[in-house]
Amino acid sequence: MVPQWIIEKKRDGHVLSETEIRDFINGYTDGSIPDYQMAAMAMAIYLKGMTPEEVAVLTDAMMHTGTIVDTSSVGLPTVDKHSTGGIGDKVSIILAPLAACAGLGVPMISGRGLGITGGTLDKLESIPGFNVNLSEAQFVETIRKCGFSMIGQTGEIAPADKKLYALRDVTGTVASIPLITASIMCKKMAEGIDNLVLDVKVGSGAFMKTLEDATALAHSMVRVGKAMGKGIVACITDMNQPLGRTAGNALEIIESMECLQGQHGDGDLMQVTLALTAEMLLLAHKADSREAALRTLKDIIASGAAFAKFKEMAALQGADVTALDDLSKLPHARIVHPFPAPKAGYVSAVSADAIGRAVLVLGGGRQKTDDVIDHAVGTSGLVKIGERVEAGQPLVVLHANDEDKLAQALGFVRDGIELADAPVAAPTLFHSTITD
Ligand code: URA
Repeated sequence: MVPQWIIEKKRDGHVLSETEIRDFINGYTDGSIPDYQMAAMAMAIYLKGMTPEEVAVLTDAMMHTGTIVDTSSVGLPTVDKHSTGGIGDKVSIILAPLAACAGLGVPMISGRGLGITGGTLDKLESIPGFNVNLSEAQFVETIRKCGFSMIGQTGEIAPADKKLYALRDVTGTVASIPLITASIMCKKMAEGIDNLVLDVKVGSGAFMKTLEDATALAHSMVRVGKAMGKGIVACITDMNQPLGRTAGNALEIIESMECLQGQHGDGDLMQVTLALTAEMLLLAHKADSREAALRTLKDIIASGAAFAKFKEMAALQGADVTALDDLSKLPHARIVHPFPAPKAGYVSAVSADAIGRAVLVLGGGRQKTDDVIDHAVGTSGLVKIGERVEAGQPLVVLHANDEDKLAQALGFVRDGIELADAPVAAPTLFHSTITD
């Protein structure tokens, strides 16, 4: 194989053969193909695209550069959920224990936040002692014991993606549907799952800014999942405003624990969580209808079982669970600063992008993968589009540990939240469900 010939073939818009794709990915992973050739290939794919068949081969090749978790000893139908990422998206933390209570096995391998999007692992690590770095054997054992486990990508899972994602990040090749599909799906397929629910986010705080792009990404991922023999469905949901009322790691754990205890009724966060968990139950044939699945899940929350299940998993992964019963033991910021409404009106915009940037400058996110984050900072009490507010009422509360960073965050919040004089409709939360 001559790597530059394969790069030229893709550059000129031709379809690569299975052998060409596999040899290229294996060569990149073992170091015989250098970063500069992989970067050129990533850009050729970015510009010329790939057929669904090429994307399926790319995904499979990347998955097979590492191990595939053997979940056969779990003895339950295995289902996971993956979100393409957003601001305030803490759905996994509520959904995984709920699904486990409903009789599913959930082997959840999550990511860290990068840029303005938050990451489940960072949120979990704001719980004192929580260990996201389990070995594969410990991961499977935790699922066997309590039905679910939440960990980070181990070195053995899809090493090609680890290398390629870092390269894409610095070569302008992240926002490519074939590359995003292969990157997400190779990791998810390596979890040893039977079924997968995808939450494809669309809007200012998401990778996909338009419904057209989000729909194309959803179809691309669903096709790959089907080609690999999995039950799979994708829901396209809104990310123009943050999900829920908090953004920032410990603050999102607090909101999640409140949701698990039924304290957040049917706000947008619980609507998305329940809808995605219901899809998991349907894929695993644990419910006859969406309505029946939703009834089951609401009963589980009301019984207190979902909160107890989260604490069971957290204890197995080393956490001090007294901090979940007494949330004041989680990291708290020194400065708590409400941002008041300048006038009365109706909330017409809460930019997910602006809130994400505010959390980032407060220190709650990373600009580089090795930045150390501050778990305590972020935003809470965020208003939602369509709500009526009075002059002086807080639109959001900022949690900061540094006055200068607070001032920067206030700038983003001031620009990101808009008020109108006339009533404003709440935005559409669910756009579509993609099954093929
Ligand atoms: N998340 C991933 O894991 N990979 C991508 O390419 C984009 C989002």
